[in-house]
Amino acid sequence: MKSFLTLAAAALPFLHGADAFWRMNCAVIQTGRVDPLVNPGTVAAHAHSIVGGSNIGVNSTYASMVNSSCTSCELRSDKSAYWTPLLYYQYPNGSFFEVPHGGSVVYYLARGPNVTSIIPFPPGFKILSGDKSARSYDNETLTWGNAAYPGRPIADRVSFACLPASGPEPPNQPYMFNVTSCVDGMRAQIAFQACWNGVDLYKSDNSHVAYLSGIDNGICPPGYQHQLPMIFVETNYAVSQVPNATDDSKFVFSQGDPTGFGFHGDFINGWDMAMQTEAVNTCLFNGAPDGVVQECPVLNADDTNGYAQNCPEQPPQVDEPVRGLIERLPGCINITYGPQAAPAASMACAATVAKPYITPTPDSTPLPTASPTPGAMFGLPLQQYMGCYNDTLGGSGYYRTLNSVEYVNYTNMSVEFCQAYCMSLGYTLSGVEYAQECHCDNEINPTAVAALNGTVNSCTWSCCGTLTAGGTQEFCGGLGFIDVYRNTNTSFVPFGDNSNTAGNAQPYTPAGGFGSNYLGCYSDTPGQLRTLPGASVPDGWNNMTIEVCAAFCAQSGGYQYYGLEYASQWYVLASPAGPNSD
Ligand SMILES: *[C@@H]1O[C@H](CO)[C@@H](O)[C@H](O)[C@H]1NC(C)=O
Ligand SMILES: *[C@@H]1O[C@H](CO)[C@@H](O)[C@H](O)[C@H]1NC(C)=O
Ligand SMILES: *[C@@H]1O[C@H](CO)[C@@H](O)[C@H](O)[C@H]1NC(C)=O
Ligand SMILES: *[C@@H]1O[C@H](CO)[C@@H](O)[C@H](O)[C@H]1NC(C)=O
Ligand SMILES: *[C@@H]1O[C@H](CO)[C@@H](O)[C@H](O)[C@H]1NC(C)=O
Ligand SMILES: *[C@@H]1O[C@H](CO)[C@@H](O)[C@H](O)[C@H]1NC(C)=O
Ligand SMILES: *[C@@H]1O[C@H](CO)[C@@H](O)[C@H](O)[C@H]1NC(C)=O
Ligand SMILES: *[C@@H]1O[C@H](CO)[C@@H](O)[C@H](O)[C@H]1NC(C)=O
Ligand SMILES: *[C@@H]1O[C@H](CO)[C@@H](O)[C@H](O)[C@H]1NC(C)=O
Ligand SMILES: *[C@@H]1O[C@H](CO)[C@@H](O)[C@H](O)[C@H]1NC(C)=O
Ligand SMILES: *[C@@H]1O[C@H](CO)[C@@H](O)[C@H](O)[C@H]1NC(C)=O
Ligand SMILES: *[C@@H]1O[C@H](CO)[C@@H](O)[C@H](O)[C@H]1NC(C)=O
Repeated sequence: MKSFLTLAAAALPFLHGADAFWRMNCAVIQTGRVDPLVNPGTVAAHAHSIVGGSNIGVNSTYASMVNSSCTSCELRSDKSAYWTPLLYYQYPNGSFFEVPHGGSVVYYLARGPNVTSIIPFPPGFKILSGDKSARSYDNETLTWGNAAYPGRPIADRVSFACLPASGPEPPNQPYMFNVTSCVDGMRAQIAFQACWNGVDLYKSDNSHVAYLSGIDNGICPPGYQHQLPMIFVETNYAVSQVPNATDDSKFVFSQGDPTGFGFHGDFINGWDMAMQTEAVNTCLFNGAPDGVVQECPVLNADDTNGYAQNCPEQPPQVDEPVRGLIERLPGCINITYGPQAAPAASMACAATVAKPYITPTPDSTPLPTASPTPGAMFGLPLQQYMGCYNDTLGGSGYYRTLNSVEYVNYTNMSVEFCQAYCMSLGYTLSGVEYAQECHCDNEINPTAVAALNGTVNSCTWSCCGTLTAGGTQEFCGGLGFIDVYRNTNTSFVPFGDNSNTAGNAQPYTPAGGFGSNYLGCYSDTPGQLRTLPGASVPDGWNNMTIEVCAAFCAQSGGYQYYGLEYASQWYVLASPAGPNSD
């Protein structure tokens, strides 16, 4: 199994403290000229890629962001949005090609001597970090500092990491460099202001916030004594995916910046406040010394690895081409090389080119709602949900929960599709996994383990198929977890071949063995006199074990003999007289 996103190894080369932090992976949720901080209610001057809450749009507020139906970041309670400029490559004939997004990582860091006073971001809070018009390194404008905690050029808020195919990563720089050598991606990084005046949730000149003295460390200036988590956003640009890109100087950010000095990032808070408060109070001080959210219980419980599938990129809100090959930068942005600052962009382009249409952002996209409880009927007629099983089993013999057939279709997978597919191949059991996989068999691997109730990251991925007729979105397992269904139609005679796959069924002896009461394995052909014709469990039992069968047979008539059949999961026959002799 491969992961959908290839994220850069998340190193923070320019950070040197040892304080706690957490980091989360994010996929794109919206692309285009959307910026509710700088250009609220209208088309933005230049184009961004945005990660986070599904409701991000030109009019986003805290209330609309927390109302997002999902987030493309891995923590479900964080419906905030984070955005950075798009990057393009310009060909000799003047056309631009959008550099594909290679995933983002968002960090929340506790830094400096005053970390225990860090407070969560309040509702309504927004910040922009960076200067889109910068085209050179400003070594003179420093953060506030004192003798113990000296200031630092604020230009250091921007940094670039180049991930080569092999060998050591060159030192970060505050500008784009050697881009075509960044075979594993160019990571553009922006550090946010972590000091707040405690009054304004947003000011368009960002004077409501200030940088820590060392940007990634240090103390807050007078007037900005309310310390917040320091947000640090890494955007990976997959520069090696640009065809025929050979000239390092031809990469240009959407704000017309071929240098990188004008890189910037925006944040609008959309957190569930109770969750953010608990995370700040626990994970930033005690937990997650290396930023892994699983190490901090409150975030671990909120974490999902299906974010990119469950919350895919939303339709573009601003209707104009920004992807692939385009003739001019979105918004008719001109390239300016500096070193002086770029002039403000004219918004006249909208009048000369067809005016982009802004689509209102819907408040909710369909989420998986169809989550059956084990034992319930679901999908096609007579199909019963057996539960969510762990499917990371290794070793020889059985290697999956369902072993006979695997089929992958990333455009057309649904519970019903898989049920029909497995029936057509003669199997009673079907299982959907990893959003796009269908597995079939006639028995559940006896060593398969049911996912614990409430296990995070279990069967929580949306199917890769279209919505059902009822408009709901189904679950199709997860990473290493499979939703298993059983065809309970007793007239269905399985004919699927169990012998032709790796991991084929092997004789199974329960832990502790069968014991001295075991008489042996008898043939039992449907439609003929059964081996044990006395009684059988009603339809719907999915808890079959030797003990359950023995108890059932004893209770329903004091039967002396009992037998398990057909995957030991669901079919039992018993007789007081002993096995038929045929
Ligand atoms: C939140 O979503 C609900 C249901 O879609 C909608 O009625 C409400 O107006 C939304 N609130 C905001 C602030 O967007
Ligand atoms: C410009 O060059 C690119 C890359 O070679 C090519 O794909 C594109 O078709 C060209 N555009 C025009 C208008 O010739
Ligand atoms: C900034 O850089 C310029 C040019 O290299 C140099 O002359 C100047 O002294 C530097 N200023 C500071 C404060 O380092
Ligand atoms: C870019 O590559 C050249 C040639 O390998 C190297 O000398 C230079 O140091 C690199 N630039 C940076 C900023 O790493
Ligand atoms: C630490 O934070 C507290 C509370 O916000 C503030 O009063 C104090 O001045 C801060 N100390 C430093 C050294 O910044
Ligand atoms: C890349 O260059 C090759 C060889 O010149 C050419 O055949 C191909 O069309 C180019 N592709 C693009 C997208 O420009
Ligand atoms: C780009 O430059 C042209 C010519 O100077 C100007 O008319 C246009 O408004 C500029 N575009 C933007 C977005 O400022
Ligand atoms: C944004 O808000 C303005 C002012 O309320 C409204 O006129 C406009 O239709 C809204 N745009 C969208 C896309 O919701
Ligand atoms: C269940 O799955 C998880 C994650 O895929 C794995 O780490 C764990 O070992 C599995 N547990 C069992 C009992 O197989
Ligand atoms: C996925 O299913 C669709 C619809 O049945 C079919 O057109 C497509 O070829 C399938 N893709 C694969 C990879 O089997
Ligand atoms: C699973 O957990 C949920 C929430 O904790 C609970 O409501 C439900 O009854 C549990 N189901 C089973 C089968 O234990
Ligand atoms: C097995 O499932 C059946 C039907 O749900 C139930 O009546 C029975 O009590 C269960 N037995 C055990 C041991 O859980």
